Amino acid sequence: MSDPILSAAGISKFFGGLTAVDNVDFEIYPGEVVALLGDNGAGKSTLIKCIAGVYRPEQGRVFFKGEDITHHTPADVRNRGIETIYQDLALAENLDVGANVFLGKEKTRRLFGLIPVTDDMLMREEAAGVLDELDIHIPSLKQKLVNMSGGQRQAVAIARAMYWNAQLVIMDEPTAALGVPEQRKVLALIRQLRENDIPVILISHTMHDVMAVADRMVVMRRGRIVANIPRAEATEELIVRHIVGSAENGENAVMA
Ligand SMILES: Nc1ncnc2c1ncn2[C@@H]1O[C@H](COP(=O)(O)OP(=O)(O)O)[C@@H](O)[C@H]1O
Ligand SMILES: [Mg+2]
Repeated sequence: MSDPILSAAGISKFFGGLTAVDNVDFEIYPGEVVALLGDNGAGKSTLIKCIAGVYRPEQGRVFFKGEDITHHTPADVRNRGIETIYQDLALAENLDVGANVFLGKEKTRRLFGLIPVTDDMLMREEAAGVLDELDIHIPSLKQKLVNMSGGQRQAVAIARAMYWNAQLVIMDEPTAALGVPEQRKVLALIRQLRENDIPVILISHTMHDVMAVADRMVVMRRGRIVANIPRAEATEELIVRHIVGSAENGENAVMA
């Protein structure tokens, strides 16, 4: 097998006396969609925040394309090609689509050749290009995010990942707040990322989503990885047993 694009080794993260992530090893290979599952509080979001540079793990290292990125800032991690779409989406509600695709990396032009201002037109045009490529239709790119549906916002976040040539996309509960047609769209977008050989880490509670798109299922419980199951061996029942902790001694358990 080729080398993993990302590998986290021995990651631990403590909050005071609480061990949120406990000595976790995690790898993902190019073109893979890996589901990260587990009950509320299992440590999923904390683990991806350790990868994305939001939290500094107390123990362990994170390697991306062979480079040690442990303790890099979120901006550094993003610049290296890891785009994270958080539960709360981290988009700016009061900006339009173009501005959101360029959030933190705004294009500017000089008014009268002097005063730097953001180049909204250029950003909107470029955003339109990516959205078109992704086959996403948003009626007006001048719309502020606050007026858009959950699915459209998710699409904007994904467009942003594509525009900046993300090489790994992490999604934390992307379909949680969406209606059924929008959920389908997000799943289609995940497949599109995979077709473009961009691996995806998908955190989801929706078993249907996971079974539909993931190549591999990783289950966390109480900060630890308790199962690592290839799609071909995964059933909803087996996954649920790992999530609730009744499979650890079971004969079907595939221990990580
Ligand atoms: N910023 C924080 N401060 C203190 N405790 C936290 C913080 N973030 C998460 N935790 C705790 O860490 C554990 C793992 O949380 P989290 O990673 O959010 O789980 P999940 O995403 O799997 O639901 C939980 O017990 C949670 O309460
Ligand atoms: Mg979470």
